Amino acid sequence: MMANLNGKAVLDDLIASRCEGHSMPQEFYTDAAVYAADVERIFNRQWVFVGHSCQVEEAGEFFTVTIENDSLIVIRALHNVCRHRGTLISRKDCGKARRLVCPYHQWTYERDGKLASCLGMHEINHDGLGLLAAHVEDLEGMLFVCLAETPPDFAATRAMMAPVLAPQRMGEAKVAKIVDYDVTSNWKLVWENNRECYHCNVNHPQYIKANFDHYNSDDTTAVIKERIDAATERHEVQCAKNELEITHKETGMATFPDPDRGLWYAANRTTLVEGYVSESMDGQQVAPLMGDYQDADVGTMRCRTMPNMWNHSSCDHVVSTRLLPLVANRPQVRVMWLVHPEGEEGRDYELEKLMPFWQLTSEQDWELCEFAQIGISSSAYRPGPYSTHKEYNVDAFVRWYLKALVQ
Ligand code: FES
Ligand SMILES: [Fe+2]
Repeated sequence: MMANLNGKAVLDDLIASRCEGHSMPQEFYTDAAVYAADVERIFNRQWVFVGHSCQVEEAGEFFTVTIENDSLIVIRALHNVCRHRGTLISRKDCGKARRLVCPYHQWTYERDGKLASCLGMHEINHDGLGLLAAHVEDLEGMLFVCLAETPPDFAATRAMMAPVLAPQRMGEAKVAKIVDYDVTSNWKLVWENNRECYHCNVNHPQYIKANFDHYNSDDTTAVIKERIDAATERHEVQCAKNELEITHKETGMATFPDPDRGLWYAANRTTLVEGYVSESMDGQQVAPLMGDYQDADVGTMRCRTMPNMWNHSSCDHVVSTRLLPLVANRPQVRVMWLVHPEGEEGRDYELEKLMPFWQLTSEQDWELCEFAQIGISSSAYRPGPYSTHKEYNVDAFVRWYLKALVQ
């Protein structure tokens, strides 16, 4: 066990000890000092997905988000920290406020963060005592914040992703359901699990019925290849009518991330298995069509950003997953279902039909991650080899992570 990582050399040694193409040494999944470095060098410096703009659509609506030690009020990504003596202003998950009042001594802030009044302290000059703001970007209804003073570039991310995300119109959607999970597993194991579908055949009976990406280049038979090609070909013609483009046509998962090209973001449209128009239990539509879609047969739009978001969007609903560190080896994972803004529960959709596909798949994954954490924490753990056919994205994730850690 490492005592601490004060000396960068210790971290460098640990990184150097990784055998290429293998899972990482135990300390990366168990050591408190590595966890602290993850937060400081990754979550505190990069663009972190926090939620959807439709959660803060009406004036004064806000939600709070905690990135390790930093709590933010997302109205405009204001730090949730009073400028008097620093207490948390909002202890709620979400709400609606005309002004933000600190519960300790009632200092009061405007919704843009300006200090409006400080109870009984008339001598105080309000200037410079507004709530501090973090950087925030709204990407087609997906909100990202960056805690760093100088955030990484977002323009290239927007240029690549916005055209793929736009037809879904997430900015105009409505939240149908949010479920939070405490997953007892290092956040990197949650990603590693997400980045391969080697485990899907046995562990995700629902997911594999709707999708082709559990087949890889080494196990796609001629018959399966023909099925994928036929579905993609038919679907390309169909999507062209809606001015949509199928951009992932190959067998296996889309390549992501790409540490060599510095790509921490990706978005694509993919066909579903024939007979499926939605990632629902029976493949049928479960809510009104969203966004610009004229018919249900649009496959799925998928996007993902390091270090903490992936999203699958069908014709009728969106599922976003957000991963936040919160506590070492117990990240909070939030799964959010969005639907058409005028969709009414009971009339236009039922949660019992909308949720199970991704609720089951997600919960199956969390269990896999928790057992992985237990095994990796054992004295018998040794880094093992990745499959080049099935785990190329796990390797890409690890390489992205190790690079981010030393930047
Ligand atoms: S700490 Fe907020 S008003 Fe005193
Ligand atoms: Fe999975």
